[in-house]
Amino acid sequence: MKFNHMVVASAVLLAPFCATHAASPVSDAVKRGEYLIRIAGCNDCHTPGYGEKLGATPASEWLTGSPVGYRGPWGTSYAANLRLSMSKLTEEQWLQQAKLPRLPPMPFWALKDMSDADLKAIYQFVRSLGVVGSAMPTAVSPGTPVKTPVIDFVPHAP
Ligand code: HEC
Repeated sequence: MKFNHMVVASAVLLAPFCATHAASPVSDAVKRGEYLIRIAGCNDCHTPGYGEKLGATPASEWLTGSPVGYRGPWGTSYAANLRLSMSKLTEEQWLQQAKLPRLPPMPFWALKDMSDADLKAIYQFVRSLGVVGSAMPTAVSPGTPVKTPVIDFVPHAP
C-alpha cells in the first residue's frame, strides 16, 4: 500500500518534466534564434542584399557573408559567413567566441551582452540553416590594398 502511494506520487511529480520534453525545446530555441537574428540586425551586414531588399530575403539565404569590405582606421574587415564559421564550432566554443572583441563595424557588444540562452538559440538556428557559400576574406591592416569593393567609413566635412 505504502509502495503504491510512492509510485503514484513519483508519476505525478515527474509528469511536468515529461511534458516539457514532449514540447520539443530544440525547435523552440531555433525559432527564438531566428527571431533574435532578425531583430538584432545581424542580416544587415552578414546577408548580401538584405538592406536593398528591405529585409525580404528568405531565411534560407541569410548569413552567408558579404564580400564587400568595410574600410576605416582599423583597416578593411568583412562580415563573415556565419553559417560556415559556426558549423566548425561546438556550442561551448560558440559561447566563448561570441563574446570576443571584433573589428568595426561589427557590434560585438550585442553578442557580449547577450544571455547564454539567447546565444545558444542563435547557434541552434544558424546550425539548422546548414552550410552555404564560402569563407569571406580575412581582415587586413590599414593601408593594405584589397581586390574587393569597399565601403569607406570615413567622416567627411559637410
Ligand atoms: C554593421 C555590420 C555588422 C552587423 C550589424 C553585425 N556584424 Fe558580425 N561582423 C561584421 C564584421 C565586419 C565582422 C568581421 C570583424 C573582424 O574581422 O574582426 C563581423 C564578425 C562577426 C563574427 C566573428 C566572425 C566569425 O567568423 O564568426 C560573428 C560571430 C558575428 N559577426 C556575428 C554577428 C551577429 C550574431 C550579429 C547580430 C547580432 C552581427 N554579427 C551583426 C559586421 C557586422
